[in-house]
Amino acid sequence: MESFRVSVLGSTGILGQRFLSLISKLPNFELSHISSSDSKYGKRLSNSVKWIIDDDYPEEYGDFKIDNTHDIGTISRESDIVFSALPTDASSVEIEFAKKIPVISKSSLNRMLPDVPLFVPGVSHDQLEILHYQRRNNNYSGFITCDANCSSTQLSIAIKPLIDLSIDDIVVDTMQAISGSGYPGLSSMDIADNVIPYIEKEDEKIITETPKIMGKHRSGTIIPMNLNITAMCNRVNVTDGHMETVFMKLNDPPELDEIVKRMSSQRNLIIDTKIPLFPEKLLMVNLNKGRPQPRLDRRLNGGMSVIAGGFKLSGNWLSFTTLSHNTILGGAGSALVQAGILISRGMI
Ligand SMILES: NC(=O)c1ccc[n+]([C@@H]2O[C@H](COP(=O)([O-])OP(=O)(O)OC[C@H]3O[C@@H](n4cnc5c(N)ncnc54)[C@H](OP(=O)(O)O)[C@@H]3O)[C@@H](O)[C@H]2O)c1
Repeated sequence: MESFRVSVLGSTGILGQRFLSLISKLPNFELSHISSSDSKYGKRLSNSVKWIIDDDYPEEYGDFKIDNTHDIGTISRESDIVFSALPTDASSVEIEFAKKIPVISKSSLNRMLPDVPLFVPGVSHDQLEILHYQRRNNNYSGFITCDANCSSTQLSIAIKPLIDLSIDDIVVDTMQAISGSGYPGLSSMDIADNVIPYIEKEDEKIITETPKIMGKHRSGTIIPMNLNITAMCNRVNVTDGHMETVFMKLNDPPELDEIVKRMSSQRNLIIDTKIPLFPEKLLMVNLNKGRPQPRLDRRLNGGMSVIAGGFKLSGNWLSFTTLSHNTILGGAGSALVQAGILISRGMI
């Protein structure tokens, strides 16, 4: 099996930790470099990370020294892929890496650039072809490709089986986990026993990213799909697992049974179970009352599926609830699946 050297920028944060944990279980990935903010530069991982996620700490990485995120020369020379889990305001370095090697980013900074794919497993694989144009037009030896925001990822996987229906409007109301704001994130005095009906820029991300995710690649650019989306975002007192209540106004809705059948049979979803971490079913339906729930359902299929339930049809309005793990499917998991697809296509 061919082996790939991978590096993680922002390795000590919530997503960085998910990357380290998942990479340690992938036999074809060998961890090469890790970075964080300057405060930890030069220290060993074991002395600098505060392990906060509910997966085991990979002891074998404990002796890794934290590199300077801006040591582009060394990191790119000694890596085949760079995963970026940097905050948006520290992500301008991603383009510098892309000039040299493939970069898969979780940050929002470069997501909406016209020649950057917006990847969601099972939905926007075709957009990866744009990387050939990006490389050629910018004279990059590498490239940059982005995963979509966790909430847009969840919404896109859920609506994909219905996308050929005549959709007038989509309204989404989110209930997003605390881990979505990183570590240490919100103060407990703000979020304990509370719901905060505001997440900075999150509604805009859902509104702008979803049409791009559902869009088509044409000769080096992505033509967004025409979708009318309204989003309201809330932070709730749950550690992991975002929920979304989705309302879709359909021009000529099919019977509810037909809608549920489409969603449970994943019609239109591309399945490639040979890619590590790619689940057999990206979209699962749970018709039990009161499901899905974060605590009960977020780790289904290793945290790599969207679970939908609570379907209702009232006149032209279809509504349902979805759940996905924001730091696995919406986080490191998607980026690792994206890497697997790029490798399988010979693009890395
Ligand atoms: N959390 C989620 O559910 C989620 C989902 C999808 C996408 N994202 C996106 O993924 C990125 C990482 O999110 P996160 O939740 O993992 O955030 P986080 O927990 O705050 O972690 C940020 C990481 O970046 C490092 N860092 C901070 N400032 C830096 C700087 N100026 N230069 C270099 N490194 C710096 C931090 O190092 P220190 O440990 O030294 O501070 C830490 O390793 C963000 O862009 C976020 O929007 C997050």
